[in-house]
Amino acid sequence: MSHFEALTPAHVPVMTALHALSFERPWSEVVFFDLLKLPTHMGFIGKDGFILCSVVMDEAEILTFCVAPKARHRGVGKALLAAVEEALKEKKVHSFYLEVGDWNVGALALYRKAGFVETGRRKGYYLHEGARHDAILMKKEL
Ligand SMILES: CC(C)(COP(=O)(O)OP(=O)(O)OC[C@H]1O[C@@H](n2cnc3c(N)ncnc32)[C@H](O)[C@@H]1OP(=O)(O)O)[C@@H](O)C(=O)NCCC(=O)NCCS
Repeated sequence: MSHFEALTPAHVPVMTALHALSFERPWSEVVFFDLLKLPTHMGFIGKDGFILCSVVMDEAEILTFCVAPKARHRGVGKALLAAVEEALKEKKVHSFYLEVGDWNVGALALYRKAGFVETGRRKGYYLHEGARHDAILMKKEL
């Protein structure tokens, strides 16, 4: 059903370009290459966005996730998250974690609708537009 591809090192230039459209401090190609060399890292990409996770035993975590601004609010993020959850269930992953900045209303809405619940906060963890912001820790049982 999904039109996404499993992430490989060949996707790094597109990932880097997509990341730069979405984050104040974008990651470099080297960072993505190094992460995708590891067998513990996986994810999916489409032409407008990608999701990258780490998987260790029966736990997984979202490392980064973005949809190009011009393609938002059309269900791409929801579909990427659903695709990765399906793959994680096949790997017998039970606990799925993430961290999100407290100002990020779009991501928080998406995660809550997808069934993630808040499990804690890291006070002042992020610097966003010159001010300290909390990281909200979330978890979903798959
Ligand atoms: C967060 C992000 C990935 C969402 O991608 P998207 O493709 O726009 O999300 P979707 O269209 O699939 O939306 C999924 C759900 O979340 C809701 N949602 C998404 N953005 C929202 C917003 N800004 N405000 C309120 N709700 C929002 C949608 O209404 C939708 O709900 P529905 O299923 O009831 O229709 C995208 O905004 C993004 O890349 N942001 C910048 C990077 C980022 O913050 N990444 C997450 C870091 S933790």
